[in-house]
This record gives sequence, structure tokens and C-alpha cells, in this order.
Amino acid sequence: MIELSFGYKNQSSRLPDFFYDVFSASVGGEEGRAIQSLIRELLKTEPDQDLQGCVATDGGDLLGCIMFSRLTFDQDPRRVFLMSPVAVRTDRQQGGIGQKLITFGLDQLRAQGVGFAITYGDPSYYGKTGFLPISEAFAQPPMPLSQPIGWLGQSLSGSQADPMVGPSRCVSAFDRPDLW
Ligand SMILES: CC(C)(COP(=O)(O)OP(=O)(O)OC[C@H]1O[C@@H](n2cnc3c(N)ncnc32)[C@H](O)[C@@H]1OP(=O)(O)O)[C@@H](O)C(=O)NCCC(=O)NCCS
Repeated sequence: MIELSFGYKNQSSRLPDFFYDVFSASVGGEEGRAIQSLIRELLKTEPDQDLQGCVATDGGDLLGCIMFSRLTFDQDPRRVFLMSPVAVRTDRQQGGIGQKLITFGLDQLRAQGVGFAITYGDPSYYGKTGFLPISEAFAQPPMPLSQPIGWLGQSLSGSQADPMVGPSRCVSAFDRPDLW
């Protein structure tokens, strides 16, 4: 039976290779290694405060994982998290696990009072879980975007969000222009 858990710490040691396996199968070994090193760096981020995550497991098997890292808008009091990356084990894709994990993770963030979630990816996929295109004026990305069409967000507060005030900062693992 698939179990969703908010918290990634008891799976931390498996996550770099898990993300490598999923991404090398879907987009190639080079991207797999890039995501693997991103995950290693991300796991050095201060947990709870700036890094959260959720996993899907079945017995002892890891089936999926999503990481959420803090995006800080110094001039805006709202708590904002960046949802990235997202991976579902290759042989279990297209079975709804990704959407269930995203919905579950966002519910947990909402319960913590997180006001807004942002992601950077395929609008048609992330649109299935409530993400809509946002402009760079609405929420300034921490770095210039190579694919502004993939800049997506959703309010978690129950009401439409006002634009974010001022520039944003990502956690240090994402402080790499090639990721944006
Ligand atoms: C993208 C990913 C997380 C989706 O998870 P999943 O469990 O396979 O997807 P779900 O079963 O929840 O959703 C399937 C639906 O999403 C669509 N979909 C899946 N991956 C997609 C993608 N990369 N782009 C657009 N649509 C996609 C499917 O066509 C399907 O649509 P339908 O319901 O209309 O038939 C997963 O396929 C994956 O890990 N891919 C490799 C890594 C990756 O690309 N991660 C995202 C970038 S961080």
C-alpha cells in the first residue's frame, strides 16, 4: 500500500541516488548527475526552517519524493516555498503518485501557515495540482529564468495572493544560474 509521509529525513541517504536514477532514465545521465549533486547540496540546508520534503513509499520501497525549499522575500513577511525537484520512480510513473504527493505536500505546507508555493517546470503537468503561470513581476525569481513560461505559483492561504514584494533569495543549493 502506498504511504505518503511529510518528512524526508529517514530517507535522506537514499535520495541522491533515487533522483539520479529517475532523472538519468528520463532526461539522461548528465542531468541525472546534476540533480544528484543538487540533492546532496540541498540536504545540507537547514531542515524544517528552510527545507522540507515528502516521500511516497510502499513497504520499504521509495516510490517518489518532492523537496520544498525556502524562497525568502526579505521585504515580504509571507512564507514562500519552492517545490523542486519532483521525482517518481520510473516504473511507477503515470499512476497518479506525482499528483498525490504534490497535493499532500502542499496541504502540509498550508497547515503550517505557508502562504504561497512556487515551482519551475511544465505548466501542463503542474497545472493539474493548481499551479498557474505567474509573472516575474508578481514574484521576482532569485535568478534570471531561461524558461519564464515555467514560472508557476499558487496561493495556499485560501485567498488570491497579492504580488510578492521585492527580490527573492533561494537556498544556497539553488544558487546556480544553470538551474534557472
Ligand atoms: C514528472 C513526474 C514527477 C510525474 O509524476 P507521475 O506520478 O508520473 O505523474 P502522475 O501520474 O501524477 O500524472 C500523470 C499525468 O501527468 C502527465 N505528465 C507526466 N509527466 C509529465 C511531464 N513531464 N510533462 C507534462 N505532463 C506530464 C501525464 O501525461 C499524465 O497526464 P493525464 O493524467 O492527462 O494522462 C514523473 O513522471 C517523473 O518523476 N519524471 C521524471 C523526473 C521529472 O521530469 N521531474 C519533474 C521535473 S522536477
